Amino acid sequence: MKLLVVKDYEEMSCATAKIFKDIITEKPDAVLGLATGSTPIGLYNKLIEMNRNKEINFSNVKTINLDEYVGLGEENSQSYRYFMNDKLFNHINIDKANTFVPNGLAENLEKEAKSYDKKIEELGGIDIQILGIGNNGHIAFNEPDDFLISETHVTNLSQSTIEANSRFFKSINDVPTRAITMGIGSIMKAKKILLLVKGEDKVRAVKELLNGDITTKNPATILKLHEDVTIIIDETMEYKGNFY
Ligand code: PGA
Repeated sequence: MKLLVVKDYEEMSCATAKIFKDIITEKPDAVLGLATGSTPIGLYNKLIEMNRNKEINFSNVKTINLDEYVGLGEENSQSYRYFMNDKLFNHINIDKANTFVPNGLAENLEKEAKSYDKKIEELGGIDIQILGIGNNGHIAFNEPDDFLISETHVTNLSQSTIEANSRFFKSINDVPTRAITMGIGSIMKAKKILLLVKGEDKVRAVKELLNGDITTKNPATILKLHEDVTIIIDETMEYKGNFY
């Protein structure tokens, strides 16, 4: 694992956008693994800007997202499909038919999950996957547990995730309790992974990732086994002595 320490969130977003730009320049039909949540919004703003300035062309790019809430569709402003359209796809020259998010309204959710891994394979695998991290160490919706699931699957959200995500909903009772999520194996197959750390509530989980053993109780620690992972943190956390 590599650690990239940046000045602040702005620099984190710029550095990540630059890596994306290099990958797409080298491979115009690259497959980008994308994430939702507050962490990647700065990156998406940079990508929109670079697309406007004609520094990145998304016309042949394909994207695949990590997860989606069960029960929420494209029209629902809390769905991850809506988030991706709103925060990125509606503002760049990407063909929406080349953007993939699990269908949280699928009649047969198990089938939807299975076909999602097939889709990743058909696309030729993920060239670069960005990840946020939950304050409990979750990546996508792979929550701390006694075991982790390799394939894309339907999962129950942990209470701490429901609480953390309730900030986006009117009330905690509106937060969906289930999601379709890429599994740990689906994520680990990505050729390159960038883990973006934003927010001091992530310190404990990241400290364990940097200094501790691999444990299913902190799913992010599995990233230690991947050969090309870069963790990007901002130096204000580092200065506080959180990581060393
Ligand atoms: P956040 O969420 O980007 O909103 O902090 C990250 C996550 O829960 O994976």
